[in-house]
Amino acid sequence: MEKQELLYEGKAKKIYATDEQDVLWVAYKNEATAFNGQKKAEISGKAQLNNQISSLLFSMLHEQGITTHFVKQLSDHEQAVKKVEIVPLEVVVRNATAGSLAKRIGVEEGIRFEQPIVELYYKDDALGDPLILAEHAIFLKAATQEEIDSLKAQALQINEILSKFFKDKDIFLVDFKLEFGRTSQGDIILADEISPDTCRFWDVHTNEKLDKDVFRRDLGGLTEAYEKILQRIGG
Ligand code: C5P
Repeated sequence: MEKQELLYEGKAKKIYATDEQDVLWVAYKNEATAFNGQKKAEISGKAQLNNQISSLLFSMLHEQGITTHFVKQLSDHEQAVKKVEIVPLEVVVRNATAGSLAKRIGVEEGIRFEQPIVELYYKDDALGDPLILAEHAIFLKAATQEEIDSLKAQALQINEILSKFFKDKDIFLVDFKLEFGRTSQGDIILADEISPDTCRFWDVHTNEKLDKDVFRRDLGGLTEAYEKILQRIGG
């Protein structure tokens, strides 16, 4: 497979066309951003860590019966994925209070829910990716009711698989963000990445944060935290 023209550059990844129809070439970047791009840093090694962690998790999810856009890892910082039309919704699954939710409803972090909560955020940088209702997403034509039902059900299934996987590694999966895409056949499948950039991981014994909160809150070295995740999941 051959890498062709750059199609899109986001905060964390560059996406290229390939000589294969329906396959894209993803190159992870070392740039770390937080607070809608207001905080930025170049962190050597981050691209490799996220690519390896995400490749490993997508392969594991595939083995567990989840359909995803992941095709294969191409190099330490690159992977091939199926071309999909990204649904402009960030799907956040929460197992405990943390981050923006703890702030919004005025509670401390770390209170576990009896049932996971699924939230939808509208992907729009100018609006700051606001939290929206499914009804708003349908009004905005971001997705249909059927698509929202499908992505919410998949998000909960993925949460069950990931929570158990990480629990076995002494990590509590506090919350995470997923993105989904439409295939040319009209199916809704898991896309984007799953990494310490998009999840909150807490050590079950020490509560040490092993995710992007280390960068957001200046808690220490980001690569050291991400390396611990990669090591624990067997990378
Ligand atoms: O900031 P908030 O608490 O809403 O984030 C919930 C989860 O979604 C966290 O794991 C965070 O890393 C992830 N997230 C993300 N990309 C965003 C917003 C949140 O990966 N744009």
